[in-house]
Amino acid sequence: MTRPIIIAGNWKHNPQRIPGESLFREISEGTISRLSADGGDSPVRVVLFPPLPWLGWFVSNASQFDRSAVEIGVQEVSDRPLGAFTGEVGAQLAQQFGAEWALVGHSERRSIFGETDPQAASRVKAAATAGLRPILCIGETLEQREAGETFEVVSRQLETGLSKLDEEFEYALAYEPVWAIGTGRTATTQQVEEVHRHLREVLRRARGASADEVPILYGGSVKPDNAQALLGIDGVDGALVGGASLLSASFLGILDAGIATA
Ligand code: 13P
Repeated sequence: MTRPIIIAGNWKHNPQRIPGESLFREISEGTISRLSADGGDSPVRVVLFPPLPWLGWFVSNASQFDRSAVEIGVQEVSDRPLGAFTGEVGAQLAQQFGAEWALVGHSERRSIFGETDPQAASRVKAAATAGLRPILCIGETLEQREAGETFEVVSRQLETGLSKLDEEFEYALAYEPVWAIGTGRTATTQQVEEVHRHLREVLRRARGASADEVPILYGGSVKPDNAQALLGIDGVDGALVGGASLLSASFLGILDAGIATA
């Protein structure tokens, strides 16, 4: 089973508008030149998760870009339908405005905004039902790792997060150890490999044969200088990049590592 390699940039609540436009153009051009070099057959896909206002910008500027090179996702979706829900942006609207992917359950949503596993399950379902591909983000805190609870925590997050999702939908997982996010501290290749192997087993038990089609990304201080080692790990199907996705040279350096290991 060959899964795509997904190199994804999570811009979080960055950057400002003017530098953001340049960043998108540079990443878009760099991606097109790299992925078209092999005749368009690359198994590598590039996805950017900008803050929500960018969605409208991408659509209104769509004619300037090759949208097949860089896919766009949202960092969060509401599980509410259209209606009197002030401040919410649901999966259906995001999809209609050009999003193709949605992050769900990012650790910052969990720790800062109090999101729970059952909420993640509803958002995953809402995203998939509206035609978005959800990426369910899971990962343990440092405290949980030091208490030997890593496997238990990620298993629970995975099982609950996917519990409302029907078989036919396309989705991905991102393993992001919380202690490695934005800290410059990366998990060792051995730590990443064993958690990814565990996640694949849990996924097979929960979802059967279709589990082998699901990409599992790693995230947490991925940089150009560690990307090749991380992406070369058996069972790592891509990277979810935070800080390093805010500089085109470093994001494209990670993309080069993804292409080299594909
Ligand atoms: P950093 O790459 O900045 O550690 O962030 C990772 C992340 O949270 C991606 O979703």
